[in-house]
Amino acid sequence: MNETGSHTGSNEKPSVSYTHDVEHAKKDDGAEFLHTIVDRYARVDPTAYLRRPDEGGFHYWGRRLGAIKPVELLLGEAKYSDLRKVLRAWQLIFVGIGAIIGTGIFVLSGQAAAQHAGPAVTISFIVAGVAAAFAAFSYSEMASMIPVAGSAYTYAYATMGEFVAWIIGWDLILEYMVGAATVGVGWSGYFVKFFQVAFNVYFGENWTEPTVTWTEDPPSMSYTAGHYINVPGFVIIMLVTIILVTGIRQSAFVNGVIVTIKLIVVLLFIFALCGYTDKANYDPYVPPNTTGNWHFFGAPGIFAAASTVFFAYIGFDAVTTAALESRNPRRDLPIGIIGSLIISTVLYIATCTVMTGAANYTELNVPTPITVAVDEVQKRTGKSWRWLNIIVTLGALCGLTSVLLINLLAQSRVFYSMARDGLLPSWMGKVHPRFKTPYIATIICGTVTAILAAVLPVDLLGNMTSVGTLLAFFVVHFGVIVLRFTRPEVDRRFKIPGGKYFFAVFPILGMTISVLLIAVAEVTTIWRLFVWMGIGWIIYFSYGIRHSTLHRDPIGRFQQAHAGEELKDQHHATQEAEYAEYEYTR
Ligand code: ALA
Repeated sequence: MNETGSHTGSNEKPSVSYTHDVEHAKKDDGAEFLHTIVDRYARVDPTAYLRRPDEGGFHYWGRRLGAIKPVELLLGEAKYSDLRKVLRAWQLIFVGIGAIIGTGIFVLSGQAAAQHAGPAVTISFIVAGVAAAFAAFSYSEMASMIPVAGSAYTYAYATMGEFVAWIIGWDLILEYMVGAATVGVGWSGYFVKFFQVAFNVYFGENWTEPTVTWTEDPPSMSYTAGHYINVPGFVIIMLVTIILVTGIRQSAFVNGVIVTIKLIVVLLFIFALCGYTDKANYDPYVPPNTTGNWHFFGAPGIFAAASTVFFAYIGFDAVTTAALESRNPRRDLPIGIIGSLIISTVLYIATCTVMTGAANYTELNVPTPITVAVDEVQKRTGKSWRWLNIIVTLGALCGLTSVLLINLLAQSRVFYSMARDGLLPSWMGKVHPRFKTPYIATIICGTVTAILAAVLPVDLLGNMTSVGTLLAFFVVHFGVIVLRFTRPEVDRRFKIPGGKYFFAVFPILGMTISVLLIAVAEVTTIWRLFVWMGIGWIIYFSYGIRHSTLHRDPIGRFQQAHAGEELKDQHHATQEAEYAEYEYTR
């Protein structure tokens, strides 16, 4: 089948026989799920993607922009996965926490307090948490409906069509890749600090600081003489890339250990210092704006800080990347998403309250604000708190590494999906013959991320990540509303509360908060977002639109996905037998 289509009309049935499969599925009670899917298949006509003989070029190409990848196709493709379905709900919560708690609380919290909100940064965390909670609802509904290793890219393709999907896939590079670079810079700060507090070893700034410095007021970028590149940030990202290429999957067990360490460290910080806060540090709780620029302090400064610390909540969507390994994804993905977000929010509020009480907010504009809080208590009490600083820096290093792993993994998988869909060159989606990982996508994204981390400062990277993610969330909210109307019949194990129409209140509020938080970001950040999107448009119109596989060979893709359904059915039976045996021998 060529691009222009060799079929004789849109009403013609594809050469795939679904009837047989429906009959076949009906015979087997256990294959009810397959039956439902196949049934729905029959409604989706692959030939509709082809150019009709009488169709004008303008109409056809316009139609391609809005072409939707049906839920059935996504589910079918996912069935090729041979990952073991082992993760339970609590393990998914741990995956979420592994991806969420990182640079946002360990680094940006201090910078947002010192630059924008003062002690009221705690309120900024609550505001950002509300935005994240709405997004968690929308992601949960999507994940329970399309339990594939999804991302906003996949969801957008299923709801708003190829062009929007491309925009979001391109935007996700900001969330995952620039996000990982931000975390790499944070990691570097704690690495340097760890050697300082544990061994009294001081690394010079020449090779541990980014090349470029960013000043917010007035916005400007400058080179600080003697700051060459951030070597620890570069190295850790390359190490993580090697791990991902060789396919040493971060097993649920390893993730469990890392997350437990991270949680213990955060709790230790909260409980060890909560008795040593100084009331004077909370006064004024909302420092007055004195610069005339509304971003700095005063009530509006709280929102500016919320835009920055929104970064801290990014990552709960990573739970959906474990969809194919979940035992009961339709039920457990929402539990993982919402559960991890609730736990992180509570910890963030407590950490910020303690940190801004232990140290004055003016002291916190440093790469490791958590240790400044410990140092300040040490000064006040005269006791040695070195042990806590050692534990906190080590725990932060551990925790930040898990965030890095998950972000880079997610990015390479998004590239992989886009390459499979033909929107990026197919070599980006090549899988390594031995390691079975999308190695080219992983190496490209690891190298670029490492370079970003080596030269750019944390605030610049973090702000870009936050606005990029807010945009992705906006689209997911919109997608949830669209799918309720276009595909009401598809099973949703988790539904946003509110019934047939009022459910929309949540995504609409989510969209509103996303737009507000983007709007209060630095003007330069918003400009960068526009430029980035502009580059994305150029690439799509010069490459993606012509190579999309959904249009080049729709019938082939549907057949392939359909075969995946059958494969899955056999695979499922084998797995169930394995579980039975496992439970029995335990
Ligand atoms: N939420 C993650 C972090 O704060 C990305 O590092």
